[in-house]
Amino acid sequence: MKISGRTRVAAVLGDPVEHSLSPAMHNAAFRAVGFDGAYVAFHVPAAGLRAAVHGLQALGALGCNVTVPHKEAVARLVGHKSEAATRTGAVNTVVCNADGLYGDNTDAYGFTCALTEAGRPLRGARVVLIGAGGASRAALFALSEAGAAEVVIANRTLRRAVSLARTFATARTSMRAVGLDQLAGQSLLGPADLVVNTSSLGLRGEPFVPLAVGATSRHCLFFELIPKRTTAFLQLARDARRPRLDGMPMLLHQGAAAFRQWTGCEPPIDVMRRALAAAARQRT
Ligand code: ATR
Repeated sequence: MKISGRTRVAAVLGDPVEHSLSPAMHNAAFRAVGFDGAYVAFHVPAAGLRAAVHGLQALGALGCNVTVPHKEAVARLVGHKSEAATRTGAVNTVVCNADGLYGDNTDAYGFTCALTEAGRPLRGARVVLIGAGGASRAALFALSEAGAAEVVIANRTLRRAVSLARTFATARTSMRAVGLDQLAGQSLLGPADLVVNTSSLGLRGEPFVPLAVGATSRHCLFFELIPKRTTAFLQLARDARRPRLDGMPMLLHQGAAAFRQWTGCEPPIDVMRRALAAAARQRT
């Protein structure tokens, strides 16, 4: 990569951020389309977030991605927002425009693309979604936009799930909330076409909660939003020989949507996919 006097910068802001696979993906994409750009990761604690985002604008950067734990805070810092960002209350992509900062949430788009690519259209789907934090909001927005038939939101803290069910249910998509312990029973998982884990449960090496995986149909897809090849959740699905999808395709497609907005170029999906896979292999 050649840095020139015209090189435009994009970045990911997070805390922590060192683990991010996005620099590998976006720098490969800049090279492939011949765009004079560079993508870097900035470790930004919450106290510096406002200055960092406005600093990117002042520096004439293309924009940035935003990751944990700043997506909600950045949604309050930008002047204009997409519908996805407004409805989810979270921004993962900022575009620096001449007239100010524009915030989007391309996680929801990435979620839908990942499932479509896996041959699982969301329209009419029966879904069990685990977790009720920030990551679940993008998934729920995508599910309601695509017209899923029903979504059961299972969370340790029931009131958070109740609140999300109220926010995202539509005439087409019914949503209800249950406690996490309900997933040990057969009745909720039995009819599911898709089980999505949006929670951070299992990431620190603790076992996943009991899931009646055996009650699901053999075609039921288990989708983990975390971009790791194996997690406690995916292991349960693997043991029961159910189809699985990890968070890599969602990461890819949310990145592709951001790239398109920053550069106006069609994202080189295959190049980005290969760069992500190579970076993930190096990380593990
Ligand atoms: P994010 O923005 O990444 O989704 P979050 O808002 O902290 O992060 O949400 C994390 C999710 O993982 C929540 O649904 C959380 O459940 P609670 O709402 O009850 O806190 C869930 N979670 C995290 N650790 C968990 C654990 N040990 N057992 C059950 N659920 C857990």
